[in-house]
Amino acid sequence: MRRQPLSVLWPVASVLLIAMTAPAAMAQDTPPALGKQVFDEWCGICHGPPNGASGGGTETLAALFQGTDIPAQLEDRTDLTAELVRTLTRQGRNTMPNFRKTEISDSELEALVAYLVADDAE
Ligand code: HEC
Repeated sequence: MRRQPLSVLWPVASVLLIAMTAPAAMAQDTPPALGKQVFDEWCGICHGPPNGASGGGTETLAALFQGTDIPAQLEDRTDLTAELVRTLTRQGRNTMPNFRKTEISDSELEALVAYLVADDAE
């Protein structure tokens, strides 16, 4: 039968498909530990404790939110939305740089969002 080879391939193909989609499914509930790791690697240098560096995220946000009760350090915020974190990370704003997928992958970004965004703000 001419069709035989194809049907023999099906089990192989389905195993491959499962193997390819499994990591994506796992990435959906990445632990906050990864988010903290991504933050420390890419964001902490600007959004950590104020160190007086000009152009620093914490310093800039402190000036921006002066007179409000919004904390300048991102990790102290309870009002951050997933949308804001995703947009700023991918597009940057003013002196904040943007980050490519080769630097912060989509699943790392989601871990970062899970870390920075309080559950009820999502
Ligand atoms: C080179 C320094 C720098 C780095 C690195 C950096 N930021 Fe920023 N970030 C800034 C500055 C400066 C601002 C203020 C931008 C402005 O003037 O509007 C800012 C603003 C933000 C805001 C907006 C807060 C608000 O309420 O308006 C978010 C969210 C944010 N950054 C997230 C991140 C995340 C997440 C990372 C890491 C992936 C990161 N930033 C890395 C400098 C930085």
